[in-house]
Amino acid sequence: MEVRQFAEQVLYSQEVDVKLRPVNTDFTDELPGEPVRVSEPARTDALKFAARRSAPGMPKPGAFKDPAKRALAHHILANHELQALEVMAFVLLLFPALPCDFRIGLAKVMQDEQRHTRMHIERAAHLGLVFGSVPVNSYIWEKVQEIESVLDYLATLPLLFEERNLDHSLEFAAMFEAVGDERSAALMRVIHRDEIHHVAFGIEWLRRFKPVDASDWETFCRHLKWPLRPVKAKGDFFQYEARKLAGLDDDFISRVRDAQDDLP
Ligand SMILES: [Fe+2]
Ligand SMILES: [Fe+2]
Repeated sequence: MEVRQFAEQVLYSQEVDVKLRPVNTDFTDELPGEPVRVSEPARTDALKFAARRSAPGMPKPGAFKDPAKRALAHHILANHELQALEVMAFVLLLFPALPCDFRIGLAKVMQDEQRHTRMHIERAAHLGLVFGSVPVNSYIWEKVQEIESVLDYLATLPLLFEERNLDHSLEFAAMFEAVGDERSAALMRVIHRDEIHHVAFGIEWLRRFKPVDASDWETFCRHLKWPLRPVKAKGDFFQYEARKLAGLDDDFISRVRDAQDDLP
């Protein structure tokens, strides 16, 4: 399948089943086309991005005993995964001139995001919540709208959102485990393992695209758009080892670990 065709299928199809349809892994990139900046992904009415602050927030850890709250957590996470998938498709349409290796590699990451979305949708449904039955936010999609270069993308999605998810995925695994929901916990651990590869993809390509005299860290910081900042690249329980496995170097990892907001 052509990479562009896959990206168009994800962004221009309204139906989730089509967005998430498994595709042949033999991608080609012979017809990348002209750059297109898509302002919003096609979605069914039920899954259209809700107005700011109108989508329900993530349930607190203490609420996870209630299956309905766990279902809501999966519903919110399914929408995060779907946005990651759509953002990657957005990047493929916006930057057709990037090397084939990068574009095909990104299409392969998208197959993981399709799988992650499906797993959360299935788990939410099992716990009683059909995907699209509560409003969903556009947080991740919005945050990439300002990107102008592939380095902006790499700093924002793989090295901030996906890096942070190295922590969050295991935090959720622990919250599900604490209430005896082993299946949901196992799902989060699968996502954690995949996310290590996605962060690795991000840092490998950041090194290939960055100026030779700039460090990984300088490049990362330079390409983040406020209010995104290094402190946002981590969760509550810092996973040093997962970052090492992803190929981040000690300097980068410790700078993320030590990042703080300079609030008075
Ligand atoms: Fe994912
Ligand atoms: Fe990912």
